[in-house]
Amino acid sequence: MRVSFMFDGQSVTGIEGQSVAAALLSAGVRHWRDAPDGSPRSGFCFMGLCQECLVEVDGVAIEACRLRVAPALRVDRR
Ligand code: FES
Repeated sequence: MRVSFMFDGQSVTGIEGQSVAAALLSAGVRHWRDAPDGSPRSGFCFMGLCQECLVEVDGVAIEACRLRVAPALRVDRR
């Protein structure tokens, strides 16, 4: 089943059970946070180890690769 969530104010559609990381990649979104030097980052390990995929939900940092898509989910770039 398709599930839409918000990423930085834009609707992104994923598949139920899919990670936010996978849904963002599938949607062509590659910039999820800024590194300290300002360069864009997305994911690297996709198993919760590297922290490259950090995004924010309600102001709290969370790995996009460990976060599942959900209908009312609002995710922000970090
Ligand atoms: S991609 Fe490495 S923690 Fe998510």
